Amino acid sequence: MAGKIPQPFIDQVLNQTDIVDLINGYIDLKNKGKEYTACCPFHGEKTPSFTVSPEKQFYHCFGCGAHGTAINFLMEHEGLQFIEAIEVLANRLGLEVTTENGHVPQNDHHKLYLALEEANKYYQQQLRTNQDAIGYLKSRGISGEIASQFNIGFAPTGFNNISNTFGNQFKQTELVNTGLLSEKAENKTYDRFRSRIMFPIKDSRGRTIGFGGRSVDDTMPKYMNSPETELFHKSNTLYGIYEARQALGKVKQLIIVEGYMDVVALSQHNIRNCVATLGTATTAQNIRNLLRFCSDLIFCFDGDRAGRDAAWKALDQMLPEFKDGINIRFAFMPQGEDPDSLIRSLGKDAFNEYLNNAASLSEYFFTNLIKDIDTSSPDGRAKLASTAKPLLAKIPPTVFRDLMYKELNERVGTTISVAPSIIENSTQSSPKTNKQSRSLKYTKTRLAIALLIRDPSLAEHALPIEELSHLLSLPGIDLFIQLLEIVEAEPNISAIALVERFHSQNTYAALQKLLLWDPPDMDNRELSFKQTMERFKDDIRRNELDAIIQQENL
Ligand code: UTP
Ligand code: MN
Repeated sequence: MAGKIPQPFIDQVLNQTDIVDLINGYIDLKNKGKEYTACCPFHGEKTPSFTVSPEKQFYHCFGCGAHGTAINFLMEHEGLQFIEAIEVLANRLGLEVTTENGHVPQNDHHKLYLALEEANKYYQQQLRTNQDAIGYLKSRGISGEIASQFNIGFAPTGFNNISNTFGNQFKQTELVNTGLLSEKAENKTYDRFRSRIMFPIKDSRGRTIGFGGRSVDDTMPKYMNSPETELFHKSNTLYGIYEARQALGKVKQLIIVEGYMDVVALSQHNIRNCVATLGTATTAQNIRNLLRFCSDLIFCFDGDRAGRDAAWKALDQMLPEFKDGINIRFAFMPQGEDPDSLIRSLGKDAFNEYLNNAASLSEYFFTNLIKDIDTSSPDGRAKLASTAKPLLAKIPPTVFRDLMYKELNERVGTTISVAPSIIENSTQSSPKTNKQSRSLKYTKTRLAIALLIRDPSLAEHALPIEELSHLLSLPGIDLFIQLLEIVEAEPNISAIALVERFHSQNTYAALQKLLLWDPPDMDNRELSFKQTMERFKDDIRRNELDAIIQQENL
């Protein structure tokens, strides 16, 4: 297991990297005075609006708004993880990446990639000679052509095929680390995938990082997947993204389905713009990844109870990731069908019809919320308001959020004030110089945020989000909640990475101001943070009291 890369090392790598040099390695930059320009690699254009500033070590596209540091560039352009981007930059500089416990991290990731690629070939070759497996795929309507485009293979029966085939080429630990071998006791290993149709799972660059295997008989489980490994992280992976981009180039719209077979079956019907999440609920990370590839998403859920639950969970993950200019819709298959069965029984047009009838995010949001609420009664409307508000508070300040509040107000028939964001407060006044922004007005929410973005580990002392959601009338609490949710999902996130998460959002500027802000209570951060939480608690108690008093008066 590779340890954490120490921050000073990351700083050193960033300090020594020249962003112009780096980007010039990928696209041709032309010198224009103080800056460099090119046609933007992140959106199609004929006249250059992509600029790179050597002074700021920053790129920015005036066309699509893409911007960031050398790390961001590698992450966006090459689809790398943060750590991988650091590794690439370090390698360019001839620096050896060291981890906090002093080890050189497993630089033999390439060994693991190689083993997975070899296994991929091996399984495909096995498929060619196994009539039963071929028959199974045929019975599911999969042609040889599509099977080979998706590199579908077959893992034969037996417990030692992998070690017999690759034992000379790879170490046992390497094969275990790829997930191809299971380890039952020290040095006792056996093939994880036996007698299964194999779906190689690729990253966006086309490297095999794991497998999903479907049993061809009644063996349980129906699907077996690679475990989490150094290369394979389920919540961060979309099955089919590489194949979709291979088939289409730039994808304009993505259909997100639940299963491997759905992706393959849709592709068989020449619907190539589909991907699947991997047997887990849709994560915020999935959504960020999807939005990296395109801004028009249709989530396609099975028509059963599990599908509906999955859809609502997905929506919950989506709200904090929302940006203006994206289009997210929800399509539901009829009861008992999934995209694979539907397209096979009713055909492509019928499937497209379901897509065309997909509900927008806001439609789905409100119809699902009010399905068990009687909004003709005041009680019902109050219930709607109290259920919707904490959800809407997760949406970053966007036109979309305003519209959602407006719709809620209309349905509830009162005016629920939108929690004014700290942004609005700070942009109302004239532009401030750095010096002025250091003297932001002191509020407990600002303090809480300022502390958290300096030290995300403070999140462990935070009040539960559900309690904080009672304080949404406090300006900035919504942002504080968003930050906590990120840290909750990724406890080891660094302060700068936490702030960077917001870089395409309106709150980014406010967060940067709060980073520069120097209030008096910064010395003992943990103590200050805990005290601030106590003050939030007081507010919550006071609100509760007010509510009770109001009720008594009624
Ligand atoms: P489904 O049960 O909906 O299967 O699981 P499916 O895709 O329709 O499969 P077929 O049509 O019977 O072949 C959807 C996804 O959930 C994960 C897999 O990723 C699957 O594609 N899953 C399902 C598992 O990981 N394990 C299982 O046992 C079942
Ligand atoms: Mn199915």
